[in-house]
Amino acid sequence: MIVEQNVPLQAHNSFGIVAKARELVRVRSEDDVLALLADAQLAAKPKFVLGGGSNIVLTGDVRPLVLKVETLGRRVLEDGPRATIVEAGAGENWHETVAWTLAQGFGGLENLALIPGTVGASPVQNVGAYGVELQDRFESLDAIDLASGRVFTLDAAQCAFGYRDSVFKHEAVQEGDFGLSGRALILRVRFRLPKPWKPVLGYLDLERKMAETGIRTPSAQQIFDWVCAIRSAKLPDPRVIGNAGSFFKNPTVTLEQCSDIIAREPGIVHYRMADGSVKLAAGWLIDACGWKGKSVGNAGVYEKQALVLVNRGGATGGEVVTLARAIQTSVYERFGIRLEPEPVVV
Ligand code: EPU
Repeated sequence: MIVEQNVPLQAHNSFGIVAKARELVRVRSEDDVLALLADAQLAAKPKFVLGGGSNIVLTGDVRPLVLKVETLGRRVLEDGPRATIVEAGAGENWHETVAWTLAQGFGGLENLALIPGTVGASPVQNVGAYGVELQDRFESLDAIDLASGRVFTLDAAQCAFGYRDSVFKHEAVQEGDFGLSGRALILRVRFRLPKPWKPVLGYLDLERKMAETGIRTPSAQQIFDWVCAIRSAKLPDPRVIGNAGSFFKNPTVTLEQCSDIIAREPGIVHYRMADGSVKLAAGWLIDACGWKGKSVGNAGVYEKQALVLVNRGGATGGEVVTLARAIQTSVYERFGIRLEPEPVVV
């Protein structure tokens, strides 16, 4: 285990914000964490777990000890009659892992193609796109307790998945509280890919692709290609334009709360949820407030998708946060709806 000093993080956060880790340790296996915990000084330091950096806004150099997750490896654990279980190291690239499962002949993750970030980050925010959420394909994960070094396994219920949410996004302030943020590092994740494979096609953009191509029974590979095409057309590639995907969650409100808004703004994009609540398209709300293409310093609102904030080149985390707050204020003033950011501000 080597402690690196003043490590540039620009290449390790998808916003491409310039910042440094004062101290950084690469975690390639649980042994690296155990070695770190055996050093009393390092063990006592506050720690920050960094995956692919696709869901963070860095507002300055990171003072806690950065644990850069680099646990690798992919394997098929079980190819049974009702499901295939595959396992991937938390440090593996998410999109490459999705492509790998398809190359092995196992569909199930294709709707989640091209999501930036790592395998280890996928359960943290329960990534989701085009009608599939990670929790629909999740089997279990192994994580290591950053205080005791104990490796433990969590199933889906224990991860407490919600919309872009899990136990890993919550901080436990005192012993016994719910939340593992900052307390555990995910080492590897197992996915359950159901058999027989069934396509998930309900999402409007995918239905459009079916209509355009005339393909009524697409293969998993075909859906993968469609999802890649849809995402590339409206979401910026973080390798070219820094961004963290959707910057805000789509707010869920009661029908009562939004019936007057819907009456006032008949064009508002909304979806009725199974529990009777209504999900509003945050991108539409931001767009309606005229934010598309606007900027604060070098941070901007993406021209093709108002839900995505981008780094136009040299943006600071402060500019991103200022822009986000201004958007929240104008959406609140016009619609009375509070938008909740998705990324973690560090
Ligand atoms: N819309 C606008 N203007 C905009 C953006 C969107 O009017 O500037 C409208 C669209 O026309 C559409 C609706 O809002 O009718 C929804 O837009 P879209 O289909 O692009 O999906 P989204 O709700 O904005 C969510 C996820 C994305 C995911 C897509 C597809 C969240 C926060 N975002 O976006 O996830 O890829 O659905 O499933 O739930 C991410 O989390 O980083 C992410 C990209």
